[in-house]
Amino acid sequence: MAGPRVFVARKLPGTALERLGARTAMRLWEAPLPPPRDVLLAEARDAEGLLTLLTDRVDRELLEGSLVLRSVSNMAVGFDNIDVATCTARGIAVGNTPGVLTDTTADFAFALLMAGARRVVEGDRFVREGHWKTWDPGLLLGQDIHGATISIAGMGQIGQAVARRAHGFGMRILYTDEIPRPEIDQATGATRVDKDTLLREADFLTLHVPLTRETRHFIGARELAMMKPASLLINTSRGPVVDQAALAEALRAGQPGGAALDVTEPEPIAMDDPLLALPNVIIAPHIASGSRVTRAKMADMAVDNLLAGLRGERPPHCVNPEVFT
Ligand code: GLV
Repeated sequence: MAGPRVFVARKLPGTALERLGARTAMRLWEAPLPPPRDVLLAEARDAEGLLTLLTDRVDRELLEGSLVLRSVSNMAVGFDNIDVATCTARGIAVGNTPGVLTDTTADFAFALLMAGARRVVEGDRFVREGHWKTWDPGLLLGQDIHGATISIAGMGQIGQAVARRAHGFGMRILYTDEIPRPEIDQATGATRVDKDTLLREADFLTLHVPLTRETRHFIGARELAMMKPASLLINTSRGPVVDQAALAEALRAGQPGGAALDVTEPEPIAMDDPLLALPNVIIAPHIASGSRVTRAKMADMAVDNLLAGLRGERPPHCVNPEVFT
């Protein structure tokens, strides 16, 4: 097929790639693992468009080696894998996929919260290992969710969707954010607090900040030491937002009481990571936005962004609109 040359870094769910293939000279990396670095660099050299995933690093080296690139579309809401400043300096549009995954991701954050609070994964292991002998009034006792305090770090779209769920569960809601969010305060009774209060008061602390230089290790040894012994940390943002070594240490010492993580550093987590040896930790393989419907929508959105950038138009969801001013 004639048209602009684009490279797509993985097969995507749904029918989005059929549309892209019909409009471009598409080269598709079909293997289940991400393209190795040398392949990505070589493909980027002559591509006008790149459709990437959060596993693909679009950094200065790649951008400086690219001859005709003008549209980069990341199939994720997060874009910490992309050097946006260098893209902007080179006039390359960058798109992402916000909005469509908000509720799906919030559902999963809540699934982790509930699974951790009520020890669902430990219970499943207990049964499969043949330990279930009788109804036991003291067996696998967990924490109540209703009436508990949920602390939400980052009250963007996903944080707000988590707050709405928490409100439905009768929780007290605290949050930190750069700006006040009066609408969510009014809708859910949420209260904006300082970081120390967020940590001290949490029965559940859930992270919804993007990964930036400022939020790297936003939760470290100091922060973990401020949490209640029985509290649970939930992370569906990015692994490096938490200092993972400090978390393992803190969990071993019993404060906080558990963690439920959809993201780790690195991804995949090393099989000898101390977190994997702890019974009070749940780890999922970065699947929070992974419903069939949402992933197909994300793929469609990523294709729409890519095509707009190739036409020289501002992508519908653009993280560097200044390219078009
Ligand atoms: C997934 O982590 C995303 O950023 O969409």
